[in-house]
Amino acid sequence: MIYRSTQDLDFTLSDVPTCPRPGRVLMTSPDHFDVTYVINPHMAGHIGTIDHDLAMAQWKALHDTFLNCGLEVHTIQGLEGLPDMVFCANQTLPFIRSTNGNQKGVVLSKMFTKERMAEVNRYAEYFSDLGFETIPLHESAQTSFEGMGDGIWHPHRYLLWGGYGFRTDESVYNQISSELDVRILLIELTDPDFYHLDTCFSVLDEDSVLIYPGAFQPAGLDLVRSFFRNVIESPENEARTLFSCNAHCPDGKYVVIQKGCTETVNALSSVGYTPVEVDTSEFLKAGGSVFCMKQMFW
Ligand code: ARG
Repeated sequence: MIYRSTQDLDFTLSDVPTCPRPGRVLMTSPDHFDVTYVINPHMAGHIGTIDHDLAMAQWKALHDTFLNCGLEVHTIQGLEGLPDMVFCANQTLPFIRSTNGNQKGVVLSKMFTKERMAEVNRYAEYFSDLGFETIPLHESAQTSFEGMGDGIWHPHRYLLWGGYGFRTDESVYNQISSELDVRILLIELTDPDFYHLDTCFSVLDEDSVLIYPGAFQPAGLDLVRSFFRNVIESPENEARTLFSCNAHCPDGKYVVIQKGCTETVNALSSVGYTPVEVDTSEFLKAGGSVFCMKQMFW
């Protein structure tokens, strides 16, 4: 149940089981956030430049924005020595099995870089304390997977979009598809500035998505266009430097997005969304913005 191109398709969206939207969001406080190494192109030149007070203020404003959107916000504390832990979309892939009694769980990531590997344990502990099933990836696999950075749920459907190419190895999706009994649509990423699927693909509602098309291979773009009736395209400058496509729409209405993405915000407003601009400038220096700084779960 892995699909690489429209030629592979043997189903349409209406064949896919429905799934509720997650109502809870986890955030990790940036107490130890920093840029101390370079593992993506956005981090280059930013070692030692983080304004820690500003980062904390920006994180709190994002936290309050999620509260104002009506989400139940949970927080855990960042750990010393793990400066990227604030990007809590990456260590797990939360799920709710719609084909098996609504059981909740998370797939545990295997981070691509050694700098981030130790982050996963804290999230495994957090979700197992909540009673969630935790699924590790097979030990034998020489593979990496970076959670909801690359694995993104189609809104309201038990259908996963699976990015690969930089941080996630495509082979992990075989295990995820069979363990979760879910169809997965693969998207190959080829531009290093867009190293996670969530840097170029932001789902809005069941029929709508915001993308930066330049980050996709033609086969992936065709898949996106065949599942979403409304594809909103962000201009390159906003996507590459302001992470416009790392926006997050929790409810089909509000779209929380880095401030300054003027064209993207206009495009979203013109089709009825309510953009909510926040400033994540300190986190952009590490190669992350709104979507990376939260984990939605059920
Ligand atoms: N510095 C982090 C890294 O390179 C940023 C992660 C951003 N997260 C995301 N979901 N795109 O791993």
